[in-house]
Amino acid sequence: MTPGSTRNGYAPGRLTVHSEPAKLAPVTRALRGAGRKIVLIPTMGALHEGHRELIRHARRIPGSVVPVVSIFVNPLQFAAGEDLDRYPRPLEDDLQVCREEGVDLVFTPQVEHMYPPGSETRIAAGPLGDELEGAARKGHFDGMLTVVAKLLHIVGPDVAVFGEKDYQQLTLVRRMVRDLDFPLRIVGVPTVREDDGMALSSRNAYLDPEQRRAAGVLSRALVAGTSVSARGHDEVLAAARGELASEPDVEVDYLELRDADLGPAPASGAGRLLVAARVGSTRLIDNVPVAF
Ligand code: PAF
Repeated sequence: MTPGSTRNGYAPGRLTVHSEPAKLAPVTRALRGAGRKIVLIPTMGALHEGHRELIRHARRIPGSVVPVVSIFVNPLQFAAGEDLDRYPRPLEDDLQVCREEGVDLVFTPQVEHMYPPGSETRIAAGPLGDELEGAARKGHFDGMLTVVAKLLHIVGPDVAVFGEKDYQQLTLVRRMVRDLDFPLRIVGVPTVREDDGMALSSRNAYLDPEQRRAAGVLSRALVAGTSVSARGHDEVLAAARGELASEPDVEVDYLELRDADLGPAPASGAGRLLVAARVGSTRLIDNVPVAF
């Protein structure tokens, strides 16, 4: 155990780490009973500035907030051949980030805690789960929603915070919470970007310097698209496509314009421009709001 941490219960102003659902659940329940507001920040670890922003956002929510960060690389949301084994797991660094950001509780379950033998029930994301990211990553969103549902049940938060960087994930979580009557509020936090506009992601660590330079084209394409939104859908997509074409080593998977709930793009109002591309063996995604 590192200094400044406790592994039992809850100690105000100190980081407490739990790995067993049955030990964490009564702690958050008691805190809620005492009038504290539990805010969950679900992560897969490898915490970066984007996650720090989620935590800061959580701490700014009005009320007597107890931020709870979960760190769990969820095997259910990785398809065969994806990066489950090489996904970074720097737990001690992550705990240090949580300590620096004033997190009270961290939940770090093992796979056997979340999916004990015989655990077979899954959440089905529905048709949107097979589109965009779901078309390339079969079963990804069913696995993601299943673990999020479990985390929500274990932690019992008043609020859960998700980044807009994974906009389809955020949309599907909101939908699950609405459709299945989960009693909490979902908050989306705008994407944190590098100086060149590139969205922060744990997977950026896989890129070598040349790939990292080339990957900057994703955010440039989104900016190019939104800058001509007054001229309509076709112009938005053409401008973004033109920018993407300037980096032939970036293999575009999709570039799509949708409405804010990821239905068909509206003639006017709020939309979302989304892109996914492969740079070497790394799959990257990004999105921005666009107004018509
Ligand atoms: O966005 C992530 O890191 C994961 O998809 C989440 C929400 C923690 C579920 O595993």
